[in-house]
Amino acid sequence: MADETFKYVILGGGVAAGYAAREFVKQGLNAGELAIISKEAVAPYERPALSKAYLFPESPARLPGFHVCVGSGGERLLPEWYKEKGIELILSTEIVEADLSAKRLRSAHGKIYNYQTLIIATGSTVIKLSDFGVQGADAKNIFYLREIDDADQLVEAIKAKENGKVVVVGGGYIGLELGAALRINNFDVSMVYPEPWCMPRLFTPEIAAFYEGYYAKKGITIIKGTVAVGFTVDTSGEVKEVKLKDGRVLEADIVVVGVGARPLTNLFKGQVVEEKGGIKTDGFFKTSVPDVYAVGDVATFPLKLYNELRRVEHVDHSRKSAEQAVKAIKANEEGKAIEEYDYLPYFYSRSFDLSWQFYGDNVGDAVLFGDNSPDSATHKFGSYWIKDGKVLGAFLESGSPEENKAIAKVARIQPSVENSDLLLKEGISFASKV
Ligand code: FDA
Ligand code: NAD
Repeated sequence: MADETFKYVILGGGVAAGYAAREFVKQGLNAGELAIISKEAVAPYERPALSKAYLFPESPARLPGFHVCVGSGGERLLPEWYKEKGIELILSTEIVEADLSAKRLRSAHGKIYNYQTLIIATGSTVIKLSDFGVQGADAKNIFYLREIDDADQLVEAIKAKENGKVVVVGGGYIGLELGAALRINNFDVSMVYPEPWCMPRLFTPEIAAFYEGYYAKKGITIIKGTVAVGFTVDTSGEVKEVKLKDGRVLEADIVVVGVGARPLTNLFKGQVVEEKGGIKTDGFFKTSVPDVYAVGDVATFPLKLYNELRRVEHVDHSRKSAEQAVKAIKANEEGKAIEEYDYLPYFYSRSFDLSWQFYGDNVGDAVLFGDNSPDSATHKFGSYWIKDGKVLGAFLESGSPEENKAIAKVARIQPSVENSDLLLKEGISFASKV
């Protein structure tokens, strides 16, 4: 098998890879210079669709409908686009060895890929229940969701187990989005998580109370403060029951697990400086190794706004970090300088007819505004976070595009506030005036 050599290689074919490819083309790329190597069988797509419209019972999203860059309002990059631009899409190819000093990658098929510049965009993988030693977690119909193949298997099970029982393990992003998606598919859904309220990494108890109440109204059973410790299976190896630590046993035709993600950095261990679980980069996504960049979920980068290093597992950052890295690579080649990355953290989620956005940092004291009752007609409520007299973060459920822009501005500008009563009284209009 002959080796192949490229000027640029992007390792990983997810969100960041797609946005990086578009930026290379914008900046000027010659045919044959760039390759994307991905273990997935399809061209880069907008991963967030997998836990939302991909699972709709009516008119579900399917490829090629959600290839990048539609998620941020851009044009879809279909497989033909890469061909037209002379970009090599090397799919269904897992890299199993990376030698950063020799600038060489080796695939599971034994093929060698040489590069001049590498962008690591391997993203994250799911944390499995078997990682915690949970018995029986390899039974049939226990699902994780990361890639389109996982989503396809789940869709098959949804068809096969029509109107059945689902247990969702985990109360984070996956838990909340999949709990809703399966309820919409008419499953009897129970959600189990160890914390006292859902999404504790972002939500305050008051924010969580709205979603938990809303989910309960939709008919979802929420079981908090305990974890799955085992499963029973039937004679065909399919999951039948989930055993909880508190002794309860839940019937299940399908189990969906979302207990967190882990950045895929294992190929580079010992070759590159790591920090906070990710590959350490500067504000241009350069790693400690010359000509090697890391973007998206795997990068631990300087978050200029808060003057600290952070890793961010969200799509907006994966897109923007990819674009920044490519701009930096090109500027470097041309001896030019570009501005350092100056990211404003932005997270969002959608489920049922709900949709929230959050910008900034959820540190300090939280001030809830609006009506967070699950019975409210508008669902419009939010929260500001104040630290040292400044508003650092803002969350809004069911905001209009203008209101969402306003909370983003607040988080960026960090206005001073003398007391929280003002925020409480003015609510979203405080942000709209900034
Ligand atoms: P990403 O995971 O997209 O891509 C990594 C790619 O590298 C994959 O194609 C993988 O197969 C490949 N790869 C890894 N190792 C390899 C190897 N050794 N050889 C070859 N290929 C390899 N965020 C958000 O802000 N809002 C949202 O609504 C959602 N929704 C959402 C739903 C679901 C189901 C998931 C799993 C995730 C989200 N996210 C999200 C998170 C968001 O999708 C995530 O942060 C980005 O996809 C990260 O982009 P990357 O390109 O870094 O990794
Ligand atoms: P997460 O970190 O959001 O949530 C993990 C949850 O797992 C915790 O909140 C906790 O409730 C639960 N948990 C931990 N240990 C457990 C145990 N032993 N038993 C039961 N529950 C346990 O992770 P996730 O929801 O798995 O999401 C995976 C990745 O996908 C993340 O990177 C996330 O950012 C991304 N994602 C993002 C979105 C979004 O931004 N809208 C949507 C889907 C997925």
